[in-house]
Amino acid sequence: MCGIVGIITNEKRNLLPEIISSLKNLEYRGYDSTGIAILDDGQLKRVRRIGAPSDVFPPKEITEELRVSEEGFLIAIGHNRWATHGKPSKENAHPHFDCGGNIAVVHNGTILNHEDLRKELITLGHTFLSTTDTEVIPHMIEQKIKEGLSIKDAFLDTASSLEGSFGLAIISTDDPNRLLLVKHGSPLLFGVLKNTLIAASSTNAILAYTNTFISLSDGEYADLSVEEGSVSYKIGTILDREEFIKKEATIITDRSLEDMSKGDYESFMKKEIHEQPSVFRTTLLGRFNEETGDAVLGGLIDYEDVLRNAKQILTVACGTAHNASMVGGALIEALAGVPVRNEIASEFRYKKIPLNTADTVLFAISQSGETADTLESVKEAKRKGFKTFGIVNVVGSAIAEEVDAGVYARAGFEIGVASTKAFTAQLAVFYLLAIKLARERGMTAQKGRGLLLELEEIPSLMSTTIENTEDVVRELALRYAKQNIRTINFLGRGIHVPIGIEAALKFKELTYLEAGSYPLGELKHGPIAVIDKDALSVVIMPHDELFALNKNLLEQILSKNGSVIVATDEVGAKNLSEQDVDIIIIPTLKNTLLYPLIEILPLQLFAYYYAIALGNNVDKPRNLAKSVTVE
Ligand code: AGP
Repeated sequence: MCGIVGIITNEKRNLLPEIISSLKNLEYRGYDSTGIAILDDGQLKRVRRIGAPSDVFPPKEITEELRVSEEGFLIAIGHNRWATHGKPSKENAHPHFDCGGNIAVVHNGTILNHEDLRKELITLGHTFLSTTDTEVIPHMIEQKIKEGLSIKDAFLDTASSLEGSFGLAIISTDDPNRLLLVKHGSPLLFGVLKNTLIAASSTNAILAYTNTFISLSDGEYADLSVEEGSVSYKIGTILDREEFIKKEATIITDRSLEDMSKGDYESFMKKEIHEQPSVFRTTLLGRFNEETGDAVLGGLIDYEDVLRNAKQILTVACGTAHNASMVGGALIEALAGVPVRNEIASEFRYKKIPLNTADTVLFAISQSGETADTLESVKEAKRKGFKTFGIVNVVGSAIAEEVDAGVYARAGFEIGVASTKAFTAQLAVFYLLAIKLARERGMTAQKGRGLLLELEEIPSLMSTTIENTEDVVRELALRYAKQNIRTINFLGRGIHVPIGIEAALKFKELTYLEAGSYPLGELKHGPIAVIDKDALSVVIMPHDELFALNKNLLEQILSKNGSVIVATDEVGAKNLSEQDVDIIIIPTLKNTLLYPLIEILPLQLFAYYYAIALGNNVDKPRNLAKSVTVE
C-alpha cells in the first residue's frame, strides 16, 4: 500500500529530484502523506507533508527547505504513506526517527505487535511522536545500538522481533555510507546501475533509471553501501547474516516508461479503458492453435496431467480479480463441465473447506501479484497440498513467484487505481483456460476452433463498442449525476451477474456512492422495496432466451417509477423501443458466453463519466490503494 524508495550512489549530487520523481511514480498505489530523509553533511534531514509528492514536493522548494549542501549527498530515502495506524498527518508521515534523530526508517506493511513493543520501549525511556506502528522500529534499533550492537545487527535483530509484514529501508548517521533493507511479506527490491542503487517497493519507482533489478525474498536483507568510491551490495538472510546469497538480476521487459504516461488522454483510467482492445489481442497472442482448436498456455505446460485430471477448480482473488474469476467460473462450467468454486481470498484463508486436494486445483487471480490476502491464500493452499496456479499481471510479483505455475495476463502497466484493462485481460485468460480444459474433456477440435475464431474477433468488437457507446454513456452519466439518485443497482442474470458486480464496484470506487448488484431474478425477493423515482437500475440483458422474462422484471421496476438503463444488443434494443428506458446498445454476438467482454466497457465508462461529473479524481479515488499489501 505504502510506497518506499531509497537511493545510494558514489556520485555526490542533489538526489532530491530523483527521489521525488520515484515517489511520484508510486503515487498511483495510494498515498495520503509523503516524506523524505537525506544524509547530508553528516546530518539526517527530513521533510514530511500531507498530500501527494507531485503536489507537495517541488524539488527546488524542498532543496531550499533542507538546505542541501552545494556538493550534494550520497543517500536518501522516501515514502508515500497510505494510513493504517493513525490519521494522515505530518507526525505520522514517514520517515520515522529514533529519539536521538540519528536513524530514519521507511516502512511498507503493518506491525502487529507494535503495541507491546511500544510499551516496552516507553518503559526504557523512549519517546514516541506518532501513532504509527512503524515508529517502534527506529526506537528498537536505537535501543539495541545502545546495548552495543552494530547498526546492521540492531536492524536485523529488530526485524526478527517484528510480527506482521514489512519492507523496510533505513539510514543512519552512525554509518552514513549504508542503506539497509529487509523484507518480510511486503515487496522490496533494488535497481542496479553502475554508480547508483535504487531501492523501492515496486519496479515502477526505478523504471525511469534502470530496467535491471534484484528482488528480495521474505527473510532476506540487503546491505547497500558506498565503499572506496564505488557502490556495492550484499544480500543475506536475517537468520544467517554472514552467509551471502548470490541472486540473479531480473530485467523488466513487460513495461516501459511510455506505459507510465497518459499520452493524449486526460486520465490514466480513460487511457486504460481505451487500451482494452489492444490488450485483449496481446493476451491472446501466440496462445492458441487455430488448426487443432486448442488453447496453448505455455506457463501450464508442466502441469498438463494435473489439469486434465482435475475434478474441481477453486479460484481465490479479491475485488475486480474475484469478479473476473466468477465470469471465468461460469465459462469453465459451461464449456468444460468442471465445477468451479469462487472464493474471496480474505475469506478463503480463514475457512475450512472440505475439498480433496488431490483432484482440486487452485487458481489465484491478481493484477498486482502483491495482494496480501491472495498471496496468503496461495501459501495456505500449498500447505494444505493443493496445486496452485496464477493468473497474474505483474511479471515476477510475489504471487507469480509463489504459485506452482501460471499464465500472465499481459495487460501492461495499469496505473488507474480502479482496474479496467487488467479485468478484461484476466477474462481473456479465462476464455483460453476454459477452451483448454474443455478440449481435454471431449470438446471437438471444430468447436474449439470456432470459439478461438470468435475470440479473435473480440478486439474489433470491443473497439466498436467503445466508439458506439461512449457519447451515449457520457450523456447518461452526466444526466443521472445531476438527478440526485439515491440508490443504484446493476442487475443481470447468469454470466452477466459478475459483470453487474464489477460495474457496481467500479461505480462505488469512482463515485463514492453506494451501489449494489444482484441477480435480476432476486428483484421480487426483497430489493424491489428500494425502487422508487430516485432509484436507478442498470440492467444488463442482451437478447437471449431469457429476454422476455427479463423484460417482465424490467416492467416491474418501471411500474414502481424506478429509472432504468438497459445495456443490450441491437435486437434487444428494438424490442425495448416502446419502453420508457435509456438504452446502451452493444454489438450483437452469436455466442452469448462472450458478452461479458464487451458489456463491461460501457459500464466502466459510465462509472468514469459519473465520477467526472461529480468532480472526483478518477485515477486516484479517495481512500484506495492500487495494491493492498496489508490485511
Ligand atoms: C479494482 O478496481 C480494485 N482497485 C480492487 O478491487 C482490486 O481488484 C483488488 O484489490 C485486487 O487486486 P489485485 O488484482 O492486484 O490482486
